[in-house]
Amino acid sequence: MTTPELAVKCRQLVKTYDTGDQKITALQGIDLDIHMGELMMLVGPSGCGKTTLISIIAGILDQDSGQCDVFGVDWLHLSSKDKLLFRAQNIGFVFQAYNLLPTLTAAENVAVPLIINGVKRQLAVRKAAELLEKVGLGKRAESLPSQLSGGQQQRVAIARSLVHNPRLIVCDEPTSALDHQTGIHVIELLKSVAVTSDRALIIVTHDARIFDYADRIAKMDDGHIDSVAVVTQHSQFNKEVEDVT
Ligand SMILES: Nc1ncnc2c1ncn2[C@@H]1O[C@H](COP(=O)(O)OP(=O)(O)O)[C@@H](O)[C@H]1O
Ligand SMILES: [Mg+2]
Repeated sequence: MTTPELAVKCRQLVKTYDTGDQKITALQGIDLDIHMGELMMLVGPSGCGKTTLISIIAGILDQDSGQCDVFGVDWLHLSSKDKLLFRAQNIGFVFQAYNLLPTLTAAENVAVPLIINGVKRQLAVRKAAELLEKVGLGKRAESLPSQLSGGQQQRVAIARSLVHNPRLIVCDEPTSALDHQTGIHVIELLKSVAVTSDRALIIVTHDARIFDYADRIAKMDDGHIDSVAVVTQHSQFNKEVEDVT
């Protein structure tokens, strides 16, 4: 098999939610490429389809039509079992609402992707605790999610997305509950782990403080990608993106 050049390739992605009394078209034909080694940020107003798009990219949601390849693999060509396996091995996802399991400690939550991948529990929890150190939560490894602040839970969710060394990390507003310094620390950690020549990182964000870390920024509106811009002159672009969010 040849090495795919793209981490993510979306073509004409369409997704409609049917709530019974109304149909909401969340994605109206999305074309988007994410290159290997790239940090792509996705910005746009609430309700424009950002979470829907990254959920399809991460294999959590199926599109109605169009194509979504991740590392050269078309999600629709995988059986549900292979899809679970491919996701467990290749994708790290940080949910907007963290989605931590309430009865597991922070370290156990972070260990889940490793355990799914067959790593023994004791080793998995040890690796998880090491990663919790890196996000500044070394002392909270034994805490339950309910004993942690929103910002701390967010960092547990970020550690969980990284623990199994996935090739694609997808984050939905990962710094929204973090103070400035912690937010920058988390982005630097994400970028150092996730942005290598055979990996990619997608971050949905409203947080202008982190725009400088992007390689490109895609602006979404009403189910479309309005523009994709390369971040070169950081401060100027920062300003532009701030104006549209
Ligand atoms: N599970 C769902 N059922 C019905 N409508 C939904 C569902 N999820 C999202 N939507 C609708 O789809 C549109 C896009 O939502 P979403 O992808 O969450 O946008 P964003 O993340 O940019 O705020 C919105 O109009 C939202 O209300
Ligand atoms: Mg969203």
